[in-house]
Amino acid sequence: MTEPDQVLKVAIVGCGNISRSHVRAYANTGRTTLVGVADIVVEKAQKLAEQHDSTPYASVTELLAAEDPDLVSVTTPPGSHAEIAIEVLAAGKSVLLEKPPVLSLAEMDAVAAAERASTGSVLVVFQHRHGSGALRAADLLGRGALGRPLVAVCETLWFRPVSYFDPEWRGTWVGEGGGPTLGHGIHQIDLLLHLLGPWRTISATAVRLDRPVEFEDVSLATVTFESGAVASVVNSLLSPRELSRIRIDTTGGTLEVNHLYGYADKDWTFRPTPDAATAATLGMDPGNRKSPTEADGAEANPWTASAGADVPSNHIAQLGHLVDDLLAGRSHDTTLASTRPTMEFVAALYASAMTGVAVHRTELTPEHPFYQALNGGIPEPRRGDSFLT
Ligand SMILES: NC(=O)c1ccc[n+]([C@@H]2O[C@H](COP(=O)([O-])OP(=O)(O)OC[C@H]3O[C@@H](n4cnc5c(N)ncnc54)[C@H](O)[C@@H]3O)[C@@H](O)[C@H]2O)c1
Repeated sequence: MTEPDQVLKVAIVGCGNISRSHVRAYANTGRTTLVGVADIVVEKAQKLAEQHDSTPYASVTELLAAEDPDLVSVTTPPGSHAEIAIEVLAAGKSVLLEKPPVLSLAEMDAVAAAERASTGSVLVVFQHRHGSGALRAADLLGRGALGRPLVAVCETLWFRPVSYFDPEWRGTWVGEGGGPTLGHGIHQIDLLLHLLGPWRTISATAVRLDRPVEFEDVSLATVTFESGAVASVVNSLLSPRELSRIRIDTTGGTLEVNHLYGYADKDWTFRPTPDAATAATLGMDPGNRKSPTEADGAEANPWTASAGADVPSNHIAQLGHLVDDLLAGRSHDTTLASTRPTMEFVAALYASAMTGVAVHRTELTPEHPFYQALNGGIPEPRRGDSFLT
């Protein structure tokens, strides 16, 4: 599998909506063969197989018994990811889990243990790490070229109507595992953590205001980072003008990305901090305000200078990197282990919201009630209640 001129044999388990993005992204590489697709609703597997000249199966077990894939995409509802991943790893194959990779830290550690015992590895879809904007941002922030991060805002303000929750598995802790914090905001949260490094504490509120769900439809968190930076994180499914946004103010300027389900380079901006003389000229003091524009200092803007090929953040970007990495014998950087801080963040947000106290990252040991389940085993709050007790 690691010879550069070989083709990667891929399979897909779960033939619903997002499986099509996986099929398209694999096909786009020109270096994969779709050896099989499986779904418990076998007609869905048959349809996808017919469309893409593959072989249908009624379960991952049947697929693994008949085929020899190098990599299995798991595009089932999140409640089944851990079990399927462990089965694929036991067969010695690598697995690509859709987000959220698992529903608890306990599940994450069970999958990690199965990975250690396997020749396969576990990768996770977080496509927003893989667009050129995030790659540039991670590189520049990592080198200190954009200054030291100070304060960040991370917003997932999305809208899901009541009908979105019609399928039986939606809206339930068992089926979805959580509300917008886990299922939707996790994309932006993962990117924020990827850019800012280890978080330290979370104080959060989660409320259920208007949707027929067992968990929150809005959550808000105040976060501190090991670096000293602080952030505000909002996740909502009640916001008609939808937006996904990360904004990071550093000692060097303001880095910002505004998009919805995927960004291109045009969605990113960096406005450098003006030097003292420029700030004075611009009247950036109380009583004499005139905001600087991106053009100010553009000649010295490290963001502008880092521009290259524009790669939007989508499955084509990440699965393209993944196939290249696996065929070259390299490890792909969006590993299960690299997503643990994101799952810890989600667990801590729920823990803080439901217990009313701040949660430190080091508290999330196997003895912590929110390690086993994101609802902490706490009885379901009444509709409209804050989770705060
Ligand atoms: N990365 C992204 O931007 C993105 C976008 C949408 C969804 N997702 C994720 O993709 C996953 C699937 O979401 P979806 O919208 O495609 O769901 P979906 O309901 O459209 O499809 C899921 C499919 O899995 C099948 N399935 C269920 N249990 C199975 C099992 N044990 N074995 C085999 N097949 C099984 C179902 O029959 C269904 O066909 C979720 O984890 C979701 O969060 C990711």
